[in-house]
Amino acid sequence: MNYTIVTMNEIALDKLKAFTDKFIGQNYYVDSDFRKMLKLSTDSMGMVSFVALNQKEEIVGIRITLLPGKLTENIDSKFLSMNKWSTDVESVAYFKSLFVHSAYQNKGVGRALTEKSLEELKKRNTKAVVVHSWLESPGNSSSQYLKAMGFAEVKVHPLFWAHVDYLCSGCKVKPCVCTAVEMIKYL
Ligand SMILES: CC(C)(COP(=O)(O)OP(=O)(O)OC[C@H]1O[C@@H](n2cnc3c(N)ncnc32)[C@H](O)[C@@H]1OP(=O)(O)O)[C@@H](O)C(=O)NCCC(=O)NCCS
Repeated sequence: MNYTIVTMNEIALDKLKAFTDKFIGQNYYVDSDFRKMLKLSTDSMGMVSFVALNQKEEIVGIRITLLPGKLTENIDSKFLSMNKWSTDVESVAYFKSLFVHSAYQNKGVGRALTEKSLEELKKRNTKAVVVHSWLESPGNSSSQYLKAMGFAEVKVHPLFWAHVDYLCSGCKVKPCVCTAVEMIKYL
């Protein structure tokens, strides 16, 4: 399957929103969120968040990644088990969202997007990446995928997304009742 990977800032916000509305949930991200994500994933060396495009230049996957030291600007520390991590928070990056279009799953797109982010993070001496895996993702693809990518479970956090004012594509209720599994990968 042919696809190209570009940095997230190369894609118009309305295109990003149409994709995340469909695959994550209506209004999970609004334009101001994307602007914040772009800021938290860009430094003088460039950007660590990526988008996969098919030959028609349609989005088929998105990998939003926050630079090391930025996760507490976006995630409430009650959902971060820093005492269980064997590295300091300033050296830890965050995998915010990864979604692959349902028709393009299991073809290596998710792995390729993640590997692009990891390559960039390693250049910045990142020691670990934390992620909140979506337990109710279809077939628990999220945890299966993350385990395949070398992540290990740290802690289960019920109602992780309940504070976000959006309609979840998984549970389809407001507020969202889905559960997150905090996971970590040391680089
Ligand atoms: C999770 C997701 C991003 C994976 O993307 P993908 O492009 O389908 O994954 P890939 O084809 O790159 O697979 C990468 C690895 O994960 C494994 N994997 C992916 N989906 C899997 C599943 N449903 N069950 C078991 N393993 C799975 C693959 O076997 C592969 O391992 P390998 O390379 O060692 O063979 C995609 O299924 C998705 O968008 N799911 C819904 C949203 C979601 O759960 N996002 C994560 C939120 S934290």
